[in-house]
Amino acid sequence: MRVAVIGAGVIGLSVAQSIYQHYHDKVRPLAIEVYADVFTPLTTSDGAAGLWQPYLYDEGNVQETKWNKDTFDYLLNFLNSPESVKMGIFLQSGYNLCTEHVPEPSFKDIVLGFRELTQRELDMFPGYRFGWFNTALIVEGKTYLPWLMTWLTQRGITFHHRKINSFKELADDGADVIINCSGVRSGELQHDPELTPGRGQIIKVDAPWLKHWILTHDFKKGVYSSPYIIPGSRLVTVGGVFQKGNWNHWNNSTDHRKIWEEACELEPSLKYARIVEDWTGLRPVRSKVRLERETMRSGAKTFEVIHNYGHGGYGLTIHRGCAEESARLFGEILQQEAKTKSRL
Ligand code: FAD
Ligand code: BEZ
Repeated sequence: MRVAVIGAGVIGLSVAQSIYQHYHDKVRPLAIEVYADVFTPLTTSDGAAGLWQPYLYDEGNVQETKWNKDTFDYLLNFLNSPESVKMGIFLQSGYNLCTEHVPEPSFKDIVLGFRELTQRELDMFPGYRFGWFNTALIVEGKTYLPWLMTWLTQRGITFHHRKINSFKELADDGADVIINCSGVRSGELQHDPELTPGRGQIIKVDAPWLKHWILTHDFKKGVYSSPYIIPGSRLVTVGGVFQKGNWNHWNNSTDHRKIWEEACELEPSLKYARIVEDWTGLRPVRSKVRLERETMRSGAKTFEVIHNYGHGGYGLTIHRGCAEESARLFGEILQQEAKTKSRL
């Protein structure tokens, strides 16, 4: 059985891993191939800060909350092992700040030590009247993706630097099952009016004294561009903007200025930080993740496609849950195939 994964971001690589873990065996080996025109360190998944939090998306989708939790629990299991360093995962605490009282978020029972902020804590952040403190995980794409690539390479998964123009192209090449993890560009392979870019720009700075993440939410203004500060293993990520429908992947000086001014107001010590670089990425925004099977045809041949894209600003937060669900759908295909063969 030949499995072709399109995409080498966190979604494609983690699906390849889950499918291998569940279905590869010596008697019935799987040939898993990953096709992508961008690899680590240049994917969207590499640039993201990697904070585990369903950011800018918390509309009570029960299925996605479960996949988020599955991912948190999966990563948590690695924490007390040396592997966590190679994977780029670590625990980190921080603040969610709001301008007014808002309902509790879906992640309150997933993260560790979730609680409301005290007045003393709120006094540290003028302008914010309500918020939460909790411990979450960071999974840094720039470390996690190379770790996944190494893991997969050691098990015989092959990587192909190639732009794919259609699913049919891979089916005609011999793929039996295609896993579509092409992120924000999925619409190039199959029209999807629901999928749109959510442009983000961030500034990476050297500010080793900052130890807590701070995410702000201005629900009153209804804007999706409140400042945030997320310390990573080496650099601190300062954001951010969220521009729906904007395909421009270049850094922009107007956005830089706005991000910097707002972040310095939030955390004045940032003025002592050394700015290292700006980075722009496009979040694959959708009302919900598209994770489903589709049977397609090329001439006389039918083949299966599993779509797994549209993870918005929470791809690292949800990836493993989605990978396991993709693997479950893959298992259904294997079962159906076995049934068909036994009838012949
Ligand atoms: P990508 O990483 O973009 O990978 C897509 C892959 O598909 C690439 O390999 C590309 O080459 C390949 N591809 C696409 N089309 C084709 C084709 N036709 N042929 C061949 N290859 C193709 N999420 C979090 O959980 N936490 C965060 O802290 C966080 N911060 C973020 C900050 C910013 C500024 C941005 C922009 C995003 C952030 N995100 C965060 C969201 C996260 O980055 C995305 O949800 C995630 O990277 C999506 O992963 P992906 O694998 O679907 O896409
Ligand atoms: C972002 O998409 O910018 C983001 C995602 C998760 C946490 C913080 C920021």
